[in-house]
Amino acid sequence: MQIIIYDDAQQVAISAAQWVQGLIKEKTHPVLGLATGSTPISLYQELVKQYQADQCSFTNVTTFNLDEYHNIDESNPQSYRSFMQENLFNHVDINTKNTFLPTCEQAQNPRNQGLAYEDKIKQAGGIDLQILGIGANGHIGFNEPTSSLTSRTRIKTLTQQTLTDNSRLFTAQEEQPTTAMTMGIATIMDARYVLLMATGKNKAQAVKDMITGAVSANCPASILQMHENAVILLDKDAASALEDHSYYQWADKQNRKLNEEFGFYHNF
Ligand code: F6R
Repeated sequence: MQIIIYDDAQQVAISAAQWVQGLIKEKTHPVLGLATGSTPISLYQELVKQYQADQCSFTNVTTFNLDEYHNIDESNPQSYRSFMQENLFNHVDINTKNTFLPTCEQAQNPRNQGLAYEDKIKQAGGIDLQILGIGANGHIGFNEPTSSLTSRTRIKTLTQQTLTDNSRLFTAQEEQPTTAMTMGIATIMDARYVLLMATGKNKAQAVKDMITGAVSANCPASILQMHENAVILLDKDAASALEDHSYYQWADKQNRKLNEEFGFYHNF
């Protein structure tokens, strides 16, 4: 794991945008895994800024989102499709035909939908860089604690904690979905690189469990300890429960030198 600690959330977003840009420049047909939630919004704002300043183009980019609510119409403002359109896709030159979410509408079989999503990712050549947030309970995607570490895209029932954490995003009149389709943990682990962003004090314990706890289905993000290329971008608050800050900072300095000389990525 490469652990990078920044002073604030804005620097986390700028750094994440650099990783995305690095990928877009490196590959002719990059495949990007995307996340929703509050954390990556500032990353998407950065990418839109860079696109507007002619610093990057998304014409050849294919995207796969981590998750989507079960049985929600994509036009529903609460759908993750709407979130992605609003926060990124409507503002850059991406072809929406190349943007995918693990949808499952009312009459559809979630098991078949999950398999079809896995196939689609394979057909695209696999995910080069997967953006992740982390739940306060250690979830990645909607892989809640106790999710199988070898799971694939499927339907999951959200925990009470996740429902409570996300209830801030729903008005009293809106019905909050309790089930969602999500990439599995093995699907995420197949990505060539994973870039997890975490900001804010409420993520500090989950971040500590992910980095220094035992690998366990009780903290699904801890599986990233087994990923060959996992980069963890933290602000000071999210890193506040970690002990070895000076080592992480020292290692980051060394890695920066390597990145400057050889680029961010290898083995694409
Ligand atoms: C979003 C997702 C979730 C979020 C996590 C953190 O697509 O899969 O795992 O990344 O719940 O959400 P925020 O960023 O809102 O704290």
